[in-house]
Amino acid sequence: MSEDIRHPIFARLYARISESAEKRGAADHRARLLSGLSGRVIELGAGNGKNFPHYPSTVTEVIAVEPEPHLRELAQREAARAPVSIRVAVGVADELPAEDASVDAGIASLVLCSVPDQARALAELHRVIRPGGELRFYEHVVSRHPIEARVQRALDATIYPALSGNDHLSRDTRKAIERAGFVIETCERFRFSPAALLPPDDHILGTARRA
Ligand SMILES: C[S@@+](CC[C@H](N)C(=O)[O-])C[C@H]1O[C@@H](n2cnc3c(N)ncnc32)[C@H](O)[C@@H]1O
Repeated sequence: MSEDIRHPIFARLYARISESAEKRGAADHRARLLSGLSGRVIELGAGNGKNFPHYPSTVTEVIAVEPEPHLRELAQREAARAPVSIRVAVGVADELPAEDASVDAGIASLVLCSVPDQARALAELHRVIRPGGELRFYEHVVSRHPIEARVQRALDATIYPALSGNDHLSRDTRKAIERAGFVIETCERFRFSPAALLPPDDHILGTARRA
């Protein structure tokens, strides 16, 4: 499939780390991310489907786009036991498999750090979310501490993306969401570490409205 993005080692590692992250607080973050959603939803880079158990019953359909084959297979298993109807689809952030203004909400969770072109991914979300619809986001972002941010930028410019399935530590995702034409309505900021040996990163969790 041409839209597959293969990161076999990262995919298996992420599947393990995500189990630890859920116990350390990510499950609660995901529940808050999706609380109160309704209608038709698109989820970008759904990974192994850790959001799926948290979709409320008011959601009528989820299109869960995932380009990595191993994670997509795990997501398909998770979709089969999800409380709402979830279709796991092959696709990439640069070209979402949905019509213009065809969904009520878009979900970006720990994914805008990994896409090759954040502005383009957000432009695609803006295209497919209907006017007045929501973008829900849960992302790790660049530190507010200047020295830490400098280290993050240095890692992003060298080895880190290659080791982490193209993850980046130093993106200012809140600013990118605003630049893409969304109006931020809520945005919590907190430190979170997904596993005992990993240092905590700044995270944002919130809602933006598509103008
Ligand atoms: C850190 S994982 C997060 C997975 C999931 N969203 C979660 O909340 O656990 C990053 C995800 O982004 C996906 N991804 C990477 N590049 C992508 C792209 N160009 N388009 C869509 N998804 C992408 C990866 O395959 C992976 O599933």
